Amino acid sequence: MSKIREHLLSLLLEHESEFLSGEEISERLHCSRTAIWKHIEELRKEGYQIEARPKKGYQLLYRPDRVSPEELKFHLKTQRFGQWIRYRESLPSTQVLAHEWAKEGAKEGSLVVTEEQTQGRGRMGRFWHSPPGTGIWMSLILRPEITLAQASQLTLVGSVALTRSLRRETGLDIRIKWPNDLLIEGKKISGILTETRGEQDGVQYVILGMGINANQTESDWPEELREIATSLAIEGKKQYRRRVLIPAILKEMEDLYDAFLDNGFEPIRILWEEYAAILGKQVRTTTHRGVIEGVAMGLDSTGALLIRQGEKVTPVFSSDIEY
Ligand code: BTN
Repeated sequence: MSKIREHLLSLLLEHESEFLSGEEISERLHCSRTAIWKHIEELRKEGYQIEARPKKGYQLLYRPDRVSPEELKFHLKTQRFGQWIRYRESLPSTQVLAHEWAKEGAKEGSLVVTEEQTQGRGRMGRFWHSPPGTGIWMSLILRPEITLAQASQLTLVGSVALTRSLRRETGLDIRIKWPNDLLIEGKKISGILTETRGEQDGVQYVILGMGINANQTESDWPEELREIATSLAIEGKKQYRRRVLIPAILKEMEDLYDAFLDNGFEPIRILWEEYAAILGKQVRTTTHRGVIEGVAMGLDSTGALLIRQGEKVTPVFSSDIEY
């Protein structure tokens, strides 16, 4: 969106319940009234309903649920997370743009967000289905002063923050499946993809990619995903405003991330176990050491999942768990 259109939208949002005269807008934006008219037409094409009345000016009547910076900043209560945003109508993957931006020196908390991904990436090289205007597809850039080994704990920080904020916003019983899937009654509503760059002794940056099925209906998924995926809207039987959910997620994420950096992993570990879906259950996983079957006990102090097989307890790091 052009800078003038962004500014125009912010003005209309600030004065949502009143008319703003064309004269005032043109003074505030330093552009002609004809140019303003053209930008109003463009906003209408994006789904905004704007009334234009002779002598009175313009009034915003309806806002589509978009995740543009102008919409998000209205609800954002963070210090850093989401304060710098690159927003696109469509992207192959927010992860790719976030890596580019991080390499250019993006600040910690910078966010890439899009309405649609055409090549969304899941864990283990899987495809992440990201249709336009329905879900939340975003990547957060972090620059923690931690070791590479500690970086895997960030995925757990992310899954706890997502769970807490989405539970609060929707009232739904969202649970975590190790390490980072969010489920409602066994069906997936969200996943996190953490990609880290750095050396053994320190992290250069981490990209925390989050995919949240917010407003999809069953017909938005291919047949084979309908049994295993669900959305907040399907479960809550209502549409959720993504522009409200994203700032809520970012606030919880910033608070828990800061707590993690200040106090270490222990508080996160306790919260993770509170929301875990698999504790006490029989699980099965394939690691490079072979298949491990046993009961999921909890997390150890490094963030590994502890699986008990008789007397033996095995810590398991990144792998898929069946249960
Ligand atoms: C998983 O496999 O569960 C992780 C899915 C992560 C998807 C998100 S959507 C935003 C970001 N961009 C991507 O291409 N992937 C992540």
